[in-house]
Formats: sequence, C-alpha cells, structure tokens
Amino acid sequence: MKIIGVNASPRMHGNSKLALKEVMLVAESKDAEVEVYDLNLMNFGPCHACNYCKRKDQETFIGTGSIDKTKKSNSWMLDEGHEGICVQDDDMAKLLRSMEDADALVLSTPIYFGQMTAQAKTFLDRLYAIYDSNFMERNGGIKFSLIISQGVVNEEVFKEYITYMMNNMITMLKFEKGDCVILTDNNKPNAIADKEEQQKAIDQLAENLKKQ
Ligand SMILES: Cc1cc2nc3c(=O)[nH]c(=O)nc-3n(C[C@H](O)[C@H](O)[C@H](O)COP(=O)(O)O)c2cc1C
Repeated sequence: MKIIGVNASPRMHGNSKLALKEVMLVAESKDAEVEVYDLNLMNFGPCHACNYCKRKDQETFIGTGSIDKTKKSNSWMLDEGHEGICVQDDDMAKLLRSMEDADALVLSTPIYFGQMTAQAKTFLDRLYAIYDSNFMERNGGIKFSLIISQGVVNEEVFKEYITYMMNNMITMLKFEKGDCVILTDNNKPNAIADKEEQQKAIDQLAENLKKQ
C-alpha cells in the first residue's frame, strides 16, 4: 500500500505537519510505503487553465509554457494525446506522477481566514489535470482523507465549508472518501502534542486508510 501525505502548512513544525507525520508513522508501522510532500517547499504554481491536460491530440494547445515530450512516460496517458498530463513540468508534476500508483492521499491543512491555505488550494487546483480523465479508472482509485488544524475552539465553525470542500473533491475527482479530522484550538505550533483526543482521532484516520 502506498500513501501520499501532503502538508499544506508553511510551518514545518506546525500541527498540520505533526499530525501528518503521526499518520505516516502509523502507516509505516503497517508496512505501507509513504511519501510526504511539503507544499510550501515545492516549486509549483497555480493551474493555468490551458486545458492541455484535456486534449487527446498532441498538437492542440492553447496555454502558455512549453510542451514536454518526456511526459509521455506517464502511464495514464493515452497513446494519441496528453489527456491527464499537466503542461507545467514542476514539482507538482512529480507529485501527480507519484499518485499513479498511490492507494491513499492525506491532505493536512490549517484554516486561514476560514478556508484552506493558499498552498492547499493551489495543490487542489492542479489536480484538474486528472479531473475528467481516465486516471482513476487506470489507477483503481485513491482514498482521500483530510486533516484540518484551526485556532478556533468550536469545531462547528468551519465544518460546513470543510465538508463541502471534501465532498466536492471526492465527487469531481472520483476519490474514495476517507476520514476528515478537525483539530481545534491549535494556535501554538506544537499544540496537538499534549492533546490525547486529537492524537486518537489522528491515529484512527491512519487506521482507516486501508481502502474498502
Ligand atoms: C494567515 C492566518 C489566518 C488564520 N485564520 C484562521 C481562521 O480563520 N480561523 C482559525 O480558527 N484559525 C486561523 N488561523 C490559525 C491557524 O489555523 C492555526 O494556528 C492552525 O493550527 C495552524 O496550523 P499549523 O500549526 O499546522 O501551521 C490563521 C492563521 C494564519 C497564519
């Protein structure tokens, strides 16, 4: 089993990263192969909406940037075109390639002004490359789980937004639905370290990563 962890907090010792590390440790203890990506340290930008990833013919291209023929190696690409391939050959392209044989993806993000971080949104937008493509059919699906860390004590405050966001990703990208854990009252970078309930919730998410 291969699990990809995506940390969308710029704090490398923050709660989102700490929670993700814990999930990965549990997964590793069950012999899973794990990879962690820190979005804030990666070289990648937003989706250019060029629709290169939607083209089944090699030549049609309406965006900016150059076409990298080496991307032909991606296994989900159709022979006659570049469906499912992002034209931007950056660190996100590497992550997308790694998703080809992943079983689960865990996104861990703080709440910034009532929403996911800009890093998380940029990552999700770049998944447009595999939206409406044959990626999931070829891949057998990926279980998508979410960890949220926020300052506000009341778990309900952003729940509607979080639930909507998660369901939207699952429906649009045909992910299998994993757990969603909301970690509250975490303004201090290491806050979750002494919170037993939050640790339990994180461990449970890790236990449930196995696909149905
Ligand atoms: C720019 C910014 C905006 C924030 N906005 C909110 C917010 O709207 N609601 C909230 O509960 N916490 C907010 N916070 C606090 C973080 O969500 C909280 O500290 C979180 O646990 C940080 O995660 P980290 O430790 O993984 O970096 C904000 C923090 C920053 C830096």
